[in-house]
Amino acid sequence: MTVIQNDERGTMNDVQIDGGASSFIAHRSSSDYDVAKIRADFPILSRTVRGKRLVYLDNAATTQKPRQVIDRLIRYYSEENSNVHRGVHYLSELATLEYENARGTVQRFLNARSEKEIVFTRGTTESINLVAQSWGRANLREGDEILISAIEHHSNIVPWQMLGAEKGASVRVIPVSDAGELDVEAYERMLNPRVKLVAVGHASNALGTINPVRRMAAAAHANGSLILVDGAQGVPHLPVDVQSLGVDFYAFSGHKVYGPTGIGVLWGRESLLDAMPPWQGGGDMILSVSFEKTTYNALPYKFEAGTPNIAGVVGLAAALDYVAGIGLEAIGAYERELHDYASRRLLEIDGLRLIGTAREKAAVISFVLEAVHPHDIGTILDGEGIAVRTGHHCAQPLMMRFNVPATGRASFGLYNTREEADALAAGLHKVIEVFR
Ligand SMILES: Cc1ncc(COP(=O)(O)O)c(C=O)c1O
Repeated sequence: MTVIQNDERGTMNDVQIDGGASSFIAHRSSSDYDVAKIRADFPILSRTVRGKRLVYLDNAATTQKPRQVIDRLIRYYSEENSNVHRGVHYLSELATLEYENARGTVQRFLNARSEKEIVFTRGTTESINLVAQSWGRANLREGDEILISAIEHHSNIVPWQMLGAEKGASVRVIPVSDAGELDVEAYERMLNPRVKLVAVGHASNALGTINPVRRMAAAAHANGSLILVDGAQGVPHLPVDVQSLGVDFYAFSGHKVYGPTGIGVLWGRESLLDAMPPWQGGGDMILSVSFEKTTYNALPYKFEAGTPNIAGVVGLAAALDYVAGIGLEAIGAYERELHDYASRRLLEIDGLRLIGTAREKAAVISFVLEAVHPHDIGTILDGEGIAVRTGHHCAQPLMMRFNVPATGRASFGLYNTREEADALAAGLHKVIEVFR
């Protein structure tokens, strides 16, 4: 990976980097990056798997959790558990306070203008479905178009197909180069008055490609279209500043950024969220209910029907505080070095081909090994205690585009090391010994 300074990244020492949540960035050089200290925060990393030290390289699927998040969940359930927004008793007020404080943490993390713009969901998938079902059903008409890209995760494809089928709108696909980079010129040519929404990933979970979201947002807006960004793989690797990116919706999942499962965020511009109808009905999203008329609550509660995942929310805030304490910029720089090192080690392996060689990449390496099915690679590596993902990575159209049934994928996180990249390379040599 060549580190190119495009508009989605900044430099190590910038105070205000593009796309960066400046208030959260610790400005350090990667030599300050104490990976041993970071690893000590993650209890699971010291366990063995199949008699070997765990080498966890499946971070794009989900990340491991630091003690700070685990302890926060224990504290919540041991000392604070109650339902939010409903009670006048002490614990309910405490849980409500912690829940709403967490919203403030997310707002600052994304540099959102207002806490009203932060909607808690179950994850990226639910956030995207919320936009499709609420904004989409209210605003899309027959003949309209939604643009997605050829490297999207299924959760940024299927909700739009469902919406398109209901509304008579079409879903068109921005092409991708052999390196895995979006063809931005083709995208700009595809924009026309029928395009109401562009929905793209910040970073690809299958290839690692970081998309030029700011440029794409500017072009979308010049065309009068909105843009939604699937940030599931953006938030763990890149500083994200939703105002600076200039997008309209941004979705991410807590579990991919060292937080709990079952919690995620939809950020949307207040004016857009305000105009959108609720998508699920129930408690908390209403101001008053009668059999004649129901009035809806204000933002963001209008979109949070029912008892929310309170523990997940406070755990997510602990996770965001944790990564912010290290600094997204420092994490990104460290992971870039690790990605480049691991890529070099893997390219030394006879018959190994990288799938996805974009100039701008998050620390995800997809590969195929001549004459070996990825599932066999995964099984043999598992025997060595190495966790990688093999399969289509919920991106089947992308696999078709690259003409492979599946890939092996090593995805790195803030706690991985060069030694683990070496272990992966050694494991792949073992795979070759078995199969040749
Ligand atoms: C790019 C991308 N988008 C969306 C998702 C869906 O996230 P979740 O399953 O947490 O909703 C994932 C998960 O792998 C992803 O990598």
